[in-house]
This record gives sequence, C-alpha cells and structure tokens, in this order.
Amino acid sequence: MKDSFKQYFIELLGYEEASAFFLAIEEKKVKRTIRVNTLKSTKKLMKKYLSEKGYEVTDSPFSRDSLDIKGTGEKWSLKLPYHAGFTYPQDSSSGFVVDLLDPKPGEKVIDMTAAPGGKSTHIAQRMQNKGVLFANDMDTRRLKALHSNLERLGIWNTVVLRMNAHKLTLIYPEYFDRVLLDPSCSGEGLFNTYEARTEFWSLKAIKAYSQDQFSLLCSAFRLLKPGGRLVYSTCTLNAIEDDGVIEKLLKKFPQAEIIKEIPKQIPQQIQSLKGIRFWPHKSNTKGFFCIAIGKKESLGLSRKLDCLRTLKSASKKGRMIEKELFKLYGLNDFPWEWVERDSFLFAVSSEMIHTEFPMKHSLSFPIYKDGRLTHAAALWAGLHTKKCIHVDDLLKFFQNSKIGKKGYLKYELIKHSNFPLGIAKNEEGKLIPLQIKMF
Ligand SMILES: C[S@@+](CC[C@H](N)C(=O)[O-])C[C@H]1O[C@@H](n2cnc3c(N)ncnc32)[C@H](O)[C@@H]1O
Repeated sequence: MKDSFKQYFIELLGYEEASAFFLAIEEKKVKRTIRVNTLKSTKKLMKKYLSEKGYEVTDSPFSRDSLDIKGTGEKWSLKLPYHAGFTYPQDSSSGFVVDLLDPKPGEKVIDMTAAPGGKSTHIAQRMQNKGVLFANDMDTRRLKALHSNLERLGIWNTVVLRMNAHKLTLIYPEYFDRVLLDPSCSGEGLFNTYEARTEFWSLKAIKAYSQDQFSLLCSAFRLLKPGGRLVYSTCTLNAIEDDGVIEKLLKKFPQAEIIKEIPKQIPQQIQSLKGIRFWPHKSNTKGFFCIAIGKKESLGLSRKLDCLRTLKSASKKGRMIEKELFKLYGLNDFPWEWVERDSFLFAVSSEMIHTEFPMKHSLSFPIYKDGRLTHAAALWAGLHTKKCIHVDDLLKFFQNSKIGKKGYLKYELIKHSNFPLGIAKNEEGKLIPLQIKMF
C-alpha cells in the first residue's frame, strides 16, 4: 500500500481507525449486493426465487431496494433476472444515494453525470416511470451502457443528454426538484475491491478532482429549485473531495444548507467528518460518501439558451400499434405516450410531452420498429401477457441459435420460467432469437 496514502488516512482518522480501514482494503471482503428493479419485480419475490436457487439472501441494511447475497446457486439463476431487467448489480452504498435523494413520481429530476446509469435507473424506478428524469453524461461509450441499462430495466420517463453538465445551467436554471451530482473522483472507495489498487493515489490528483467537483457542484446548485434537494456523492473517502467541496459550496452560496434529516439506515459514522460515509471496515461495502443539500432561496437566475423543442406525440400511430399488440399478444395496458423518432416508436411519460428539451437528445425506451417489438419492449411485454413461448434450453437462446420449439406468429415472445427473455423470429416454424446482447 502506498505510504503517502497511509499517511493521509492516519492523519484523518487516527492510527487505530486507519489501521482497520487498511486491513479492509487488504482483505477485500465486499458484500455481494443486487438492487431489485421494482418496476418489474419485488424484493420479496426476488428473495424467494434466489433462496430457492441456493443463495443465502438477506435485506441489505443500507438501501431500501437492495439484497445482500452469499454462497452459490444454480446455473443461470443470477443471470436470468439480470437479463430480464429485474435486478441491477449494485453496492448498497450506491443504492443509499437514491434513498437520500428521495425522488418522487411526477417530479423533474436530473442526474448530471449519469453513465452507466446505476443511480439513474434507481431514480426512475422510485419515480415509478412518471415525471421526467434527465440523464446526462459527456462520455459517448458510457452513454451506450446507460441506454442499454435503461432499456433492460424498462424505463420510459428518461431523456438522455450528452452535454458538458455546466451547460445545462444556461437552459434549466432553478428548474429541478431533485439534482444528483455523482462526478468522477479518485475512487478510494473501490480500493477494497479486486480491480483497484492504491498505487495510483496522489494528493495532486485529489486536488485536481476536487476543483472539477466544486465547479460541477456550483452548477448543480444553480440547477436546483428553491426548496428542492441536491445530493452530492463520490466513491472516494478523503476530506478534500468530500467535506472540502461542500464547505466551499456553503461559503459561496449563503442560500445553501445541509439537510440533516436523512434515512435511518446509515452505517456507523466517524463523527469528525461531514456527510454520510460508508467505510469499508465498518459497513463491509465499498467506500462511499454522500450528502444532501437544500436551497433556502432563489439565486434569481434566468434562462440564457432558448433553442429547445417539445416532443411531438404520435398518439394516432400509437393507437394502431396498441390494437395490433392486443391482437397478437393480448396486451391491453400501455401506460405511456407514443413518440415517433427515426422510424422507431418510443414510449415516454405523459409529463415528457409537456417538457422542453435541448435539440439534441435521445429517448430511453424504443418500443416498435419495422413491424415488430424491440428487445426492450419484448422484455416488458413478456411480463404482461401469457402469450409467450417457453424455452428450456437457455444456452441455445443466448447463443442466438435455433430454439427447438415451434412458433406460430411471425415474432414470438420468449420466456423461461417467469423471466421474459426477448423476442424470436419465426422462420418456417423454427424460432431464431433476435438482438440478444447480454452475455
Ligand atoms: C462516477 S461516474 C458516474 C456513475 C453514475 N452516476 C452511476 O451511478 O452509474 C462519473 C461520470 O461523470 C461524467 N462526467 C465527468 N465530468 C462531466 C461533465 N463536466 N459533464 C458531464 N459528465 C461528466 C463521466 O463521464 C462519468 O461517466
């Protein structure tokens, strides 16, 4: 372990506490945790299923939607719910961030640095696919992962933006009920996982990160409505990127205040520091920091950029597709508005229809193209109809090879036990899976 890293944390925590922290880094005993996507399943059902498959499953003490898992289970038993969008592998310290943000259905929420979407998908599930979530990031590769996660988890209240987050303040000053800022950081909280090492740690890098974080936090505060809630989180533990950045914000903006009432399930704290920290040696999780900030008064900001557009509803086309989907699969509840874009029909929340978006944006949930459901929509549809073909040979399905089952429709919905797997094309009675990219 790097000496300068050790020295910094001994000064911050004292010798005994720091030694326990260093031991946790060396032992690498992080709990295995998944978050249940409550848009598609429930914690109770997932707990029952995974226990029956051989795992030891308990409610995570730190996040409302998370389950801690131990042991090993039957083949495919963790992959299936992941593939169907019922679960998301996520440490409960990250899950806690959305407990603290506490987004509600119908609100306007922004995740300023969202990719690959661990927290955005969690926010959307808490919003019950209602209201509008803006998921922004500027990294194209990571945005692809974000899109894939939004589709798999069945999320249609989200617009995806690829912008430098600072620019958003010109368009949406004091607009959002909730703002999440989870920026890039030095990642000390990951040092107790297998992939991360302390060798690359340096005070110089930490100071550079903290400058970016502070300027992003100022932008986050500008995006927040008076009376709204801003959560700042990092997967690092030093006081420069965490407490230091918050102290600078409070000094710059007298309108900012720390929100003290927080969810009950926090781990044991080290009192000398601000915010909530998950210390690996105290919580057996990855290390994490988060804090909630409120806004007492407006900053009096106004919009500086006006080239925005609203979505055009394609309700007429949507009704035709609805009729067809009823005829084919017996689907009869479509809890969204339809929008047409690049020959795809997308689902969006009704609040999104009345919202102005930057000219360049993308939607999260494609439903229909070229006379058939998309993979994302097939995962959703399989939950709401009995008209599915059940397959046993999962390997064949995931290898995209012919399934030994007879099809009747041109495109059949495929399921294994209670898990929708996607859609397959019927070629002379033989079913061939389409668009399976998960394995
Ligand atoms: C810690 S990761 C976010 C993880 C994400 N919140 C999740 O839970 O899956 C930080 C992200 O911030 C993005 N980022 C950093 N600076 C940014 C900026 N100025 N504008 C937009 N995104 C930025 C990076 O591309 C990176 O994807």
